[in-house]
Amino acid sequence: MSDVLRVGIAGLGTVGASVARILIDSADLIAERAGRQIAVTGVCARDASKDRGIDLGDITWFDDPAALAQSNAIDVFIELIGGDGDPAKSAVQAAVASGRHVVTANKALLAVNGNEIAAAADAGGVAIGYEAAVAGGIPVIKTVREAASANRIARVYGILNGTCNYILTRMEEHGESFEDCLAEAQRLGYAEADPTADIEGHDSAHKLALLAAAAFGVEVSLESVYLEGISSITQDDLRAADELGYRIKLLGVAVRTDSGIEQRVTPTMLPKSAAMARIGGVLNAVAIDGDAFGEITLAGAGAGGDATASAVIGDIVDIARARLSPVFGVPASKLKPHTRARMRAHAGGYYIRLNVFDRPGAFAGIATRMAEAGISLESIVQKGGEGEGNGRALPVTIITHDTLEQNIREAFAGIEADGHIEGRPQMIRIEKA
Ligand code: HSE
Repeated sequence: MSDVLRVGIAGLGTVGASVARILIDSADLIAERAGRQIAVTGVCARDASKDRGIDLGDITWFDDPAALAQSNAIDVFIELIGGDGDPAKSAVQAAVASGRHVVTANKALLAVNGNEIAAAADAGGVAIGYEAAVAGGIPVIKTVREAASANRIARVYGILNGTCNYILTRMEEHGESFEDCLAEAQRLGYAEADPTADIEGHDSAHKLALLAAAAFGVEVSLESVYLEGISSITQDDLRAADELGYRIKLLGVAVRTDSGIEQRVTPTMLPKSAAMARIGGVLNAVAIDGDAFGEITLAGAGAGGDATASAVIGDIVDIARARLSPVFGVPASKLKPHTRARMRAHAGGYYIRLNVFDRPGAFAGIATRMAEAGISLESIVQKGGEGEGNGRALPVTIITHDTLEQNIREAFAGIEADGHIEGRPQMIRIEKA
């Protein structure tokens, strides 16, 4: 490695352009912290003629990311292309195989191929920096992987998707429907034209899988993440949550249990008193429960060019200083196999909303099914309406004491079979915080 650390950037979108601009504009400040100059010596992007508002001077352009990745002109390959397959995957593999360190913001690539990439990085003696892949500018990977080294981490959870947090916050504050809030998020550029990856929880699942591996020293297992998106959340749920003292957030939660690691991304009720319940708008937050430091919560910008570039450059500076960590905190050969805890075994409180036909015996029938499944109720509220007792369906809101998810499923099967409710039951898990 030369005295100057030479980096090559593949992908000059919002984040890539911010990385290049900050490295150029703040070169002296970053050099002081890195102990050496950091120079962008190669770039690769689809359109070389596009005006990105930065002077790339005589930096060498590459047409092929894999060619840049293994070029002798660079020491570190910055992968900002995205996606779990090629060209990002083959370019990262080429960089590692040719002994170049990698820094990436690509959560999908590592969530899908992380075990294989970590093993190759160990074999090649190179680092894979991916702070920018999880919660943008918030230093969560550094925290779970390094700062928390003295702790046995029991749980890591967070608001990992700014788009969903924006939509839920706006629904709560403006009383608007999910569809209207999604349209506003798209108008503001937070949500993509195809918002599936955000609203159905896939983006959060990628981030959670990486957090869980780094926090627990286990292999990454994206396929073990249980997923529910936010499109089923209604104003009825938000109003009920508010009255009961909760907020609804799309949370990613990874927790050690007796039967393995439970990973879930679901709409979740948090007590309003929890620090994370107050994180609104597009912000992200991550909380870590450790046996030495207790619970810590980090919050901030989970996306955006400069915030994400800040995380990318932090990783580059670590490489410049030779502060190299194994990808998931321990060498890939020492990662424990990922044992999946089934959602049926999830234990906790539940919010349940049923549209119950207002007729004799309906309420009693539901309570009986709950009791037969061994579920103890903390509260049950029936909202009346005009013409009560005429058989119309009225919302009933139930909060349970801690119970097993298999009990909830058993009770729902009985309640649906009895025909006392209209539509499907709504169920939202309650997270202790
Ligand atoms: N689309 C993500 C979000 C940012 O809304 O938080 C990139 O992962």
